[in-house]
Amino acid sequence: MSDANNTDKPWAGRFTAPTDAFVEAFTASVGFDKRMYKQDIAGSIAHARMLAHVGVLTEEECRAIIDGLQDIQLEIERGEFAWSTQLEDVHMNIEARLTDRIGATGKKLHTGRSRNDQVATDIRLYLRDQIRALARELRRLQEALLELAGREADTIMPGFTHLQTAQPVTFGHHMLAWMEMLMRDQSRLEDCYQRVNVMPLGAAALAGTTYPVDRDFTARELGFDTIAENSLDAVSDRDFAIEFVSAAATLMMHLSRFSEELILWSSAQFDFVDLGDSFCTGSSIMPQKKNPDVPELVRGKTGRVYGHLMSLLTLMKGQPLAYNKDNQEDKEPLFDTLDNVKGCLRLFADMMPQITVKADNMREAARSGFSTATDLADYLVRKGMPFRDAHEVVGKAVRHGVETGKDLAEMTLADLQGFSEIITQDVFDVLTLEGSVAARDHIGGTAPDQVRAAVGRARDRLAKYKLAEPS
Ligand code: ARG
Repeated sequence: MSDANNTDKPWAGRFTAPTDAFVEAFTASVGFDKRMYKQDIAGSIAHARMLAHVGVLTEEECRAIIDGLQDIQLEIERGEFAWSTQLEDVHMNIEARLTDRIGATGKKLHTGRSRNDQVATDIRLYLRDQIRALARELRRLQEALLELAGREADTIMPGFTHLQTAQPVTFGHHMLAWMEMLMRDQSRLEDCYQRVNVMPLGAAALAGTTYPVDRDFTARELGFDTIAENSLDAVSDRDFAIEFVSAAATLMMHLSRFSEELILWSSAQFDFVDLGDSFCTGSSIMPQKKNPDVPELVRGKTGRVYGHLMSLLTLMKGQPLAYNKDNQEDKEPLFDTLDNVKGCLRLFADMMPQITVKADNMREAARSGFSTATDLADYLVRKGMPFRDAHEVVGKAVRHGVETGKDLAEMTLADLQGFSEIITQDVFDVLTLEGSVAARDHIGGTAPDQVRAAVGRARDRLAKYKLAEPS
């Protein structure tokens, strides 16, 4: 005899006592998995078509199921669907509503299927759509970066190591460094997408099904590239989600470092860039403040994405095959990762065109930091001095500069000849910032012409990534 509290539940048959009310709330996932309703319905429609195709359902039954499911989708999208915690999850909510609407035929939909292969399918479908949406935001950011890099190919800034002025670089070159990192992020997404786009349906609960399913048919309906080879694996592993969150964590690590630079550069101490008013906020107490909240929050959100990666890895590590309820915990970390990474990319893409580059300040910072010291050493080497000796000579010239408050380019020829007599008037060509960057004239170097060429190559490489294209 099943209790009133359990009669709603499709699995109530073998139970005599009702579910404890708190257990019901504790075990339900509908609060967060209902966001996969579209994928759940698409998966069910494909499954129903397949069942009709192999003769398990009649054409009329299949039609009634599909119509019912499409109506349910409209109900959900109009906000009229009554989600029920008693029905546990998105799958049982939709299935129960189908039977409400179309009667007994609705009960045939779950033939040859289990929530175990159903949920694994839904997540893969959902993640597939989301990775594409994310790749589109990433593409916008990459395009904005290329735009900025091309525009600022000649702009000189100090390049840093240890956050100490090292050698002059062009701002465009610096932007292209971020571009390279984002291109690898893009390629990690492309790569993991292939392993996401595999269909679990047909695995049923864990062992497969006794119905004559045509898995290739269902896979074609749903646009899956391949079908899962092993039913136990198909319902059990979530490595595809781990892989995605790992790629997302790496991407966030890059955005976080980028954020850190924007935060530093927009401070009064650096004053290299202005982030644009719409991407900053003020202080309620200090009227002069314009705070770089957007990059700060992006840097902050990186932490939670790392946390989600650790959650998912830990979620899987102790699970025996095949499906365990633990797996229900895969969704919130995955969804939160998707929401936040997509938001961060969107903000970054929107913020890039608003950035004002303060070329004079960057130039002044590069000029005053002995950033051409290596160029002077290279000059001496070209004149025949061994590099170690040249290093020593330039070190002495820099010490003199520190003591007298003069940059190398500000010293007289006589001053410089005091450190080495092989120095002649042409030294001033290499001590200029323009001379320094122009001399690094090879693929991967900071010379403005190289930056322009690299922007062109990056555009060609971007065009090869297909994921960001509308599906
Ligand atoms: N809500 C469940 C999840 O997210 C669906 C699968 C439930 N399967 C089961 N045998 N209880 O994993």
